[in-house]
Amino acid sequence: MKIAVPKSTIENEARVSIIPETCARLSKAGLEPIVQTSAGEAASFPDSEYASAGAQIIPDAASLFDEAEVVVMVQPPTPDELHQIKSGTMLFSVLSPLTNHDVVRQLAERGIHGLALDMMPRITRAQKMDVLSSMSTVAGYKAVLLAASELTKMFPMLMTAAGTITPAKVLVLGAGVAGLQAIATARRLGAVVEAFDVRPAVKEQVESLGARFVEVEAPQEDAEDAGGYAKEMSEAYKIKQGETIAAHAAESDVVVSTALIPGKPAPILITADTVRKMKPGSAIVDLAAEGGGNCELTRLGETVVENGVSIMGPKNLPASVPYHASQMFSRNVGAFLQELIKEGRVVLDMENECVTGTLITQSGEIVHQRVRESMGLEPLATVQGSAV
Ligand code: NAI
Repeated sequence: MKIAVPKSTIENEARVSIIPETCARLSKAGLEPIVQTSAGEAASFPDSEYASAGAQIIPDAASLFDEAEVVVMVQPPTPDELHQIKSGTMLFSVLSPLTNHDVVRQLAERGIHGLALDMMPRITRAQKMDVLSSMSTVAGYKAVLLAASELTKMFPMLMTAAGTITPAKVLVLGAGVAGLQAIATARRLGAVVEAFDVRPAVKEQVESLGARFVEVEAPQEDAEDAGGYAKEMSEAYKIKQGETIAAHAAESDVVVSTALIPGKPAPILITADTVRKMKPGSAIVDLAAEGGGNCELTRLGETVVENGVSIMGPKNLPASVPYHASQMFSRNVGAFLQELIKEGRVVLDMENECVTGTLITQSGEIVHQRVRESMGLEPLATVQGSAV
């Protein structure tokens, strides 16, 4: 069974979905990896390494999609790519299906079996297949480096002949996967770190990384849903939260914000007023920019300077560390595929909750109940059960 690795056609997308190491594993399990010429080049994985790992190099996208029975991509296919993928192909990719309804409709229309890697259930067993966690790890790390290079100060405390340099103060908003990595990275660079999250459960994790947990003095609310994600808070809590964040941001040199609520716009945590209270020369890196931003002044893909404060809204940060981002993505998909390979073929086992959690379209139908709901479609009477 041929599994295809296309070269991304999206601007500034330097990641590749499968790296040579995973190709070798998949070949051993009986699949035949086919890789488009220079697919991994921007991530520092040359064609020669793919060839040594047993992959066949295919010169162009059209021939690659024509031969493929399984396609793996880091980003949703473009309309042009969608037209080249044959009916009956299995596509494993990040698809954002709860909001990217056009892609979902087209996958169904074209008879492509679409599996959204970003819908992987957040259960312990699936941690090794979770591309969202991997990409958040990369983004959290890189956000701190961006802040460090934008800041007019250094991060560590230094005792020099020219006197003592005080350490930078970093405030991290949202202590999920990206936030925790941002805390760890800022601490490694020597900063003094504080962090805030609506989920009190993360206090211990924040403190174990050597940061202080900022508490909002408001009546405790149920902040977490059954899946461990944050819920939207009451208006009264939001007012108290805004005041607390403003007070801490005013004392900080760097704010890294990562707060997201699944299926909702990112919560505004840093108002224009809060930015005005911050010190000139300080920096905000808004990792929630793609979800609308945690700062009122964020513009996606741009750096806005307001009152001497730089507000960065980076786009697709994982692609700026393409080697390790690709390695992690590839290992996650590889672990998922390994579970599905039966006698040299990828089989979608409908008893496997990682399959039912990610399978969005199958045999021309949109089969994922949450995705159907988000599109205003009637629930399916019976969940499609046939293995492809
Ligand atoms: P996320 O990217 O959806 O959100 C980032 C953080 O923002 C979360 O910690 C959230 O609580 C916080 N947040 C939301 N609204 C906020 C507000 N108004 N103020 C401050 N913070 C706010 O979350 P992520 O990082 O994807 O993970 C969420 C949880 O899921 C984590 O606790 C993690 O441990 C868990 N998880 C479990 C996995 C598994 O078991 N396979 C894999 C990955 C994560």
